[in-house]
Amino acid sequence: MSNRTDAKTLLIGLLIGATVSAASAVYLLLTSKKSAGNSSSPNTPPIRTGVESLIGNTPLFRIRSLSDETGCDILAKAEFLNVGGSTKDRVALSVINEAEKAGLIQPGRGDTIFEGTVGSTGISLAVIAKAKGYKCHIVMPDDQAKEKYALLQKLGATVEKVRPVSIVDKNHFVNLARKRADEMNLKADQEGNGPRGFFCDQFENLANYQVHYQTTGPEIYEQTGGRLDAVVLGAGTGGTLAGVTHYLKPLIPNMIAVLADPHGSGLYHKVKHGIMYSPMEAEGTRKRHQVDTVVEGVGINRLTKNFAKVAKGWLDEAVRVTDKEAVEMSRYLVKKDGLFVGSSSAVNCVAAVRIARELGPGHTIVTMINDHGTRHLTKFWDDTYIEREGLTPSAEGLEFLDPPT
Ligand SMILES: Cc1ncc(COP(=O)(O)O)c(C=O)c1O
Repeated sequence: MSNRTDAKTLLIGLLIGATVSAASAVYLLLTSKKSAGNSSSPNTPPIRTGVESLIGNTPLFRIRSLSDETGCDILAKAEFLNVGGSTKDRVALSVINEAEKAGLIQPGRGDTIFEGTVGSTGISLAVIAKAKGYKCHIVMPDDQAKEKYALLQKLGATVEKVRPVSIVDKNHFVNLARKRADEMNLKADQEGNGPRGFFCDQFENLANYQVHYQTTGPEIYEQTGGRLDAVVLGAGTGGTLAGVTHYLKPLIPNMIAVLADPHGSGLYHKVKHGIMYSPMEAEGTRKRHQVDTVVEGVGINRLTKNFAKVAKGWLDEAVRVTDKEAVEMSRYLVKKDGLFVGSSSAVNCVAAVRIARELGPGHTIVTMINDHGTRHLTKFWDDTYIEREGLTPSAEGLEFLDPPT
């Protein structure tokens, strides 16, 4: 072999060696980052800290069946994916943060968070209370789905069940929660020290509205690129509807804001005619003590400070949803989409379809899946209970929303 051939062979060898080493180095670099679980790829979400980091920034997804049926894009904010399982996580975190900022509570001192709630807010508060080092005491009406009480107890909250009575009664669950916090603070004041109580007051506390104005509204705007024709939401405290509407309306002047209201609630009448009223009150047909519906979480017969933010001039339309329609919709969504929703979300979806039909094909409607059906197994999703209420579903498709012929 000549010297020239030797040199050529050596050069090729060196090139191959260098290429293999470079490739190995790149491979090692990539795999070592992967095994550390913190890839710097821009598409990989960063590692977060604590359960409170799993709240908000929920996906917005197209409900395939309802969109295909109506020719509109019916988009839903997947709020059930929050760590505590509902949209109320945002409120719980915000209310507790605000109370800490105001110096009303302090972690690790034995301070207690008190709230009167039909369940979801209590569960969210119980999660955040544990995460932050507080005790949690929830006062609830005793007619809610059993799994909510069980979940609260498993989360270490004290659960006080009371008979559902009118808000003017001192034993209404909201009034009792306020009283319990006052009692604890009186004791702390008398002793000059000791743990304090904080009443969250989700119905009247505007930190509720504000968190939806600061997070849920902007998320919807960003996720849709501001291209939406209607936002359709129910109201319990009114915080979600008020916060989202206040954020989106000034940015999208042609967008309509729509209340989805269950049967038995007075809000529909308030939006349509300016007066809080439910026909069931007048007809004397009301079966239950509060809002007369099998739906939990939305519908109310009083004007809260949170709902008052939109009560005048902000809402364009209201849709009343019957219990039968809500039940039919929930079963339809499982059958067609594998989407297992709670009762208030079924109300939202019924109203979203009605608005889609009114606007016609080609429009974009945003609504919300507030919580998951698993939180309603022993009531809204219990066939025996639903049959007893005379609400057994029978529809194949969406014909239950067709006008009578
Ligand atoms: C499951 C569920 N969905 C919706 C709502 C209504 O939200 P908001 O209180 O913001 O009106 C509630 C309120 O309690 C709820 O529990």
